[in-house]
Amino acid sequence: MEPGVSVLEASGLTVYYGPVRGVSDVSFSVGEGEIVALLGANGAGKSTVLKAVSGIVKPRSGALAFNGRDLAGVPAPARVRLGLVQVPEGRRIFPSLTVRENLELAAFGSAGQGARAWRAGRQREARRARLEAVLRSFPLLDNHLAKLAGMLSGGEQQVLAIARAMMAEPVLLMVDEPSLGLAPQMVESVYDLLAQIALGGTSVLLVEQNVGLAFEVSQRAYVLQHGSVVLSGPSTELAGDPRVVSAYLGEAKPGSSAEPGLLDEPAAGPRTT
Ligand SMILES: Nc1ncnc2c1ncn2[C@@H]1O[C@H](COP(=O)(O)OP(=O)(O)OP(=O)(O)O)[C@@H](O)[C@H]1O
Ligand SMILES: [Mg+2]
Repeated sequence: MEPGVSVLEASGLTVYYGPVRGVSDVSFSVGEGEIVALLGANGAGKSTVLKAVSGIVKPRSGALAFNGRDLAGVPAPARVRLGLVQVPEGRRIFPSLTVRENLELAAFGSAGQGARAWRAGRQREARRARLEAVLRSFPLLDNHLAKLAGMLSGGEQQVLAIARAMMAEPVLLMVDEPSLGLAPQMVESVYDLLAQIALGGTSVLLVEQNVGLAFEVSQRAYVLQHGSVVLSGPSTELAGDPRVVSAYLGEAKPGSSAEPGLLDEPAAGPRTT
């Protein structure tokens, strides 16, 4: 699928953590209503790219343009107000607040009309309207509004985290490994949600270890290896490309150890991010 207008354009992003290189010379774009996947093995630089877009880390070089606007010098909270919203890793909901309270709190800092109405003193109506709109697209939460968020299952918490991000009316939603640790059925629900969100016109930048899933839901993908983009293209084409496997295996020769099973499981073990 050919993307329309580019919502986000990254060119030559290089990020260092002290002496450690996070990513080097990474360029990519995300079109309007497009789902773009960032793939790669542990440590490849996927989360670093999201952090650079969110403004959590400052690139050493390279540029980010959001709807044509240079993001250099725009601090993280201002990026959220512009509509660049990341679902926090580890979901980071408030467990001792109800599902409804979690969603209402998220209405602060919204990019769209909600925020303007809020500032104009029409907070309550704006908040209720936005909450209703979000609940319409997240029926899974509707029955749990009065429940403490900490009592939800892992999958439901992930849905809540995405719903919270949607309360801010993102133009570009960033999600870092939403399927991590979820039961297969919940993974499917979460991915259906992301597809719906994109159909609604919101662009999605998706980081995922489970390449099979990512290729299914995304239109285009970029594969990172050791901090650099080594492959990119339409997801339907990359899905059958043995070089994707090589990129995950690092040193392996292309096609030499194409074990599909390897890519079907999310990485286990301790996480660095
Ligand atoms: N806060 C940090 N301090 C130092 N080095 C870091 C930091 N965060 C990431 N790195 C390093 O930057 C590189 C890219 O890490 P990043 O977290 O972006 O990878 P990733 O693709 O998201 O990996 P994972 O799949 O494990 O989440 C790695 O070498 C990592 O060790
Ligand atoms: Mg990561």
